[in-house]
Amino acid sequence: TFQNRVFSGAQPSGNMHLGNYLGAFRNWVKLQDSFECIYCVVDMHAITVWQDPADLVAQTREAAAAYIAAGVNPEKSILFNQSQVSGHAELAWIFNCVSRLGWLNRMTQFKDKAGKNRENASTGLYVYPNLMAADILLYQATHVPVGEDQKQHLELTRDIAQKFNNDFGVEMFPLTEPIIQEEGARIMSLRDGSAKMSKSDPSEYSRINLNDDADAIALKIRKAKTDPEPLPALAKDLEGRPEALNLVGIYAALTDRTRDSVCTEFEGQGFAEFKKALTDVAVSKLSPITGEMRRLIAAPDHIDAVLRQGAERASAIAAPILKDVKKAVGF
Ligand code: ADP
Ligand code: NA
Repeated sequence: TFQNRVFSGAQPSGNMHLGNYLGAFRNWVKLQDSFECIYCVVDMHAITVWQDPADLVAQTREAAAAYIAAGVNPEKSILFNQSQVSGHAELAWIFNCVSRLGWLNRMTQFKDKAGKNRENASTGLYVYPNLMAADILLYQATHVPVGEDQKQHLELTRDIAQKFNNDFGVEMFPLTEPIIQEEGARIMSLRDGSAKMSKSDPSEYSRINLNDDADAIALKIRKAKTDPEPLPALAKDLEGRPEALNLVGIYAALTDRTRDSVCTEFEGQGFAEFKKALTDVAVSKLSPITGEMRRLIAAPDHIDAVLRQGAERASAIAAPILKDVKKAVGF
């Protein structure tokens, strides 16, 4: 039996956005009351695609600032960056030898991220899910809050845990459960309702960044793709209207309501009206977070100290687990 423990992380690969907030950070904050939580800035994942070194330093601080500004409490939860705890890399190597090529070949995110030029993708991008399994299992984490996009990777984590336990005849790792919330689990691009909102989307109008000011948020929502139909009474009648459904879903997630209750309130109104209401809600929810992020980023020494302390706490949990793992493997 394993003690309940939460692990999650986000990549410091550029702008933190509304999808990260609604799909991840917001949920992380809620879990702090009921779990021991470990929240990681996964800089080793970020370098699976090229990152300018100086930018990476700034982006790592920015990610940590976003977590704290969203409500992660570093006194309570452990907040650190991955590269500072060497156990992630050590366990990832062992998992490279447990995981199977056939398993990795099924990962849809690699296909999306590698794109057409697959031969030129880094090998790190390919084995990324093995590192993610190491991130989680280094702490024997029992629960991982993630967006829909990470569900397949978490299934791989369970496969790796199970194979390790079987191969070495030990109950080393738990079969980690995902925690996926109903609203906000999959926020789509504002420009294309079939693509997820992502840091790596080159269109700046595709996402609301957590450091956008009120004018930028208003402009992006105004430019968001929709259709000329009014809002229906029930969310199920938004089927076939992915952009409209996405905006209603964002409103629901930001206000902690269901899509149906949002549709009922705005039934019969067009999206020009609805977008004004959505802008008000988005600005009032996000501007305190933006302000706090800016204050934190202006004091990088403080953020660095928080990350250092977090890395010490994380290492203390990881060390005895990694020791047992190495012994099981025969190291
Ligand atoms: P990105 O895909 O933008 O690079 P990350 O891979 O760093 O973001 O993901 C960090 C966390 O944010 C993960 O838990 C992920 O599931 C969540 N997340 C990312 N994009 C979205 C989205 N569009 N909708 C909901 N959750 C998301
Ligand atoms: Na992602």
